[in-house]
Amino acid sequence: MSKKVFLSGVQPSGKPHIGNYFGAMKQFVELQNEHDGYVFIADYHALHSLRNPKEMNENIKNVLLDYLAIGLDPKKVIFFKQSDISEHTELTWIFDTITTMPFLMRAHAFKDAEAKNKEIDVGTFNYPVLMAADILLYGPDVVPVGADQKQHVEIARDIAEKFNRTYGKGNQIFKLPESMILEDTAIVPGTDGRKMSKSYGNTIPLFAEHDEIKKCVMSIVTDSSGGIPQNVFAIHKLFRAEAELKKIYEEKAGKYKELKELLVEDIEKFIAPLREKRKEFAKDIPKALAILKFGGEKAKKVAGKKMTEVREKIGVNVY
Ligand code: ADP
Ligand code: TRP
Repeated sequence: MSKKVFLSGVQPSGKPHIGNYFGAMKQFVELQNEHDGYVFIADYHALHSLRNPKEMNENIKNVLLDYLAIGLDPKKVIFFKQSDISEHTELTWIFDTITTMPFLMRAHAFKDAEAKNKEIDVGTFNYPVLMAADILLYGPDVVPVGADQKQHVEIARDIAEKFNRTYGKGNQIFKLPESMILEDTAIVPGTDGRKMSKSYGNTIPLFAEHDEIKKCVMSIVTDSSGGIPQNVFAIHKLFRAEAELKKIYEEKAGKYKELKELLVEDIEKFIAPLREKRKEFAKDIPKALAILKFGGEKAKKVAGKKMTEVREKIGVNVY
């Protein structure tokens, strides 16, 4: 039996934090052992918020190093860059013609921007359609994402169904993908207790040096109940078994500084090897880039074949 296929995209939007790691990145490394996989850098998605070319260029290289460092294996996963495969934007246009405005107006990202009275560019509005194209070109069974991206995967399913109904004559041109959410760590809390997010400035960076880890941990807001600092505990349980941790926190109830010091040690133990691996990859950037380019060549073959089928189905293929 052939292996199941997973696919996911990551925006090159700066330094990853442990919320990104436990909510999304880690799953790729686990999945690659039992699945065939596609992981890509969603640089075109990032354009709606990142308009500095130098920063874009650096972020792409950084995210490449990040993923190699956490153990993404290019022998097991096709690792590529979205903008290398023009089929993503081509298919987006075709999907645009079968997707209605009211349907996209239900997307959370659009509704949030509208509620904040933000000026919304067409790219932001259309973001879920590009994401649908990203996914459907490769026919994955599962799409591992954080909880906040679940709706986008549902939109991709709806678009696939609409296309299949419109052009498929009952055949499944596009496979319907399932999202895959790690429930335990679906929302990793930040140092202030809210969801860990770059936009809240409450993160612990994934490749932080020891001093930075210490600074972040010491800044965790200690809202305690019965001497157990809940925010510290919630982050700590990512790094140590909960039962063992409960005992320690009960024994050291009220001793916030000691508990935080223990958390610093546990995070350092976890991060140090990743940090070192990343430094190794960073010594040879051209080699890392060659991995990405080669992945693009492989992805292009799959996407190109699907687009040939799509062009036939919609009737533009006359030669
Ligand atoms: P941020 O909120 O820091 O900007 P992104 O939106 O770039 O993070 O998210 C990248 C990936 O990491 C997504 O799949 C997202 O769902 C996941 N993710 C981000 N923050 C968290 C968190 N606090 N807990 C779990 N997953 C997260
Ligand atoms: N929108 C996703 C995010 O912000 C990134 C992404 C783009 C993606 N295309 C995708 C994720 C396709 C999964 C599948 O995290």
